[in-house]
Amino acid sequence: MERAPEASIHADLEALSHAAAAAIVQVAEDAVRERGWFALSLAGGSTPRRLYELLATTYSERMPWARTHLFFGDERCVPPTDPASNYHMAFDALLNRVPIAEKQVHRIRGEIPPLDAAREYGRMLRRFFATGERGAAEPHAPEDVTTFDIALLGIGPDGHTASLFPGSPVLDERAHWVVEVEAPAYIAPPRQRITLTLPVLNGARDVFLFAAGEEKTRVVAELLSAEARRPSPYPAGRVSGTRRTVWWLDRAAAGDIGGAEAESR
Ligand code: 6PG
Repeated sequence: MERAPEASIHADLEALSHAAAAAIVQVAEDAVRERGWFALSLAGGSTPRRLYELLATTYSERMPWARTHLFFGDERCVPPTDPASNYHMAFDALLNRVPIAEKQVHRIRGEIPPLDAAREYGRMLRRFFATGERGAAEPHAPEDVTTFDIALLGIGPDGHTASLFPGSPVLDERAHWVVEVEAPAYIAPPRQRITLTLPVLNGARDVFLFAAGEEKTRVVAELLSAEARRPSPYPAGRVSGTRRTVWWLDRAAAGDIGGAEAESR
């Protein structure tokens, strides 16, 4: 039985970023204690930049970097040096500033042909979660593998998450964990993307949806009201963790949701 999502609402992006960073550190410490490693899939876009900066500074000493593996929920089909690259933002704000081994940062190679990048990343994820390095004996069917400890995801104003867009056929993909997609024409270029699909995102123990700013108020309100209407018409409403789903929102994105008491969470 899927648990209802939680909303953790904070005064502004700074308070939101601190709260989410503290939560990520706590999950990381618990994961390493329980399983010996912590797997976090990073969100793209711009909202998480401050969160990444805090993980690289204020919260860095508490992070078990030696036992952490970082992944990406999606990537634009550009080189890692391109300012439009999600890896580029994470490198600037986080990766270049923390003591994590390069082999523990699993980058989607946006610079190679999209189908090759998607297949390569899917094979790596399966090897990491379903069969190999964790010592799991047998490959599992894609829909029943536990994957990330946290899948951190942003939300677009149209309700997309990662590069899963409303009405896209890849929302029904159940075999491939990573696919190449063309973002809709209303999305700013680069529109050729590589994205994780729902089976691997929903295999995460925790899904953290992270949104801030007034441009997200409407879609957040519709998403949380659409919760009742399953499956959600929005891709961001189709992701949920096997353990919990937390909507990390600032007051501007939360609008009328949650009221005053939600601030304290
Ligand atoms: C991307 C992201 C995308 C992003 C949302 C929110 O590659 O753009 O994966 O899903 O998280 O579009 O982006 P902002 O944080 O910039 O609003």
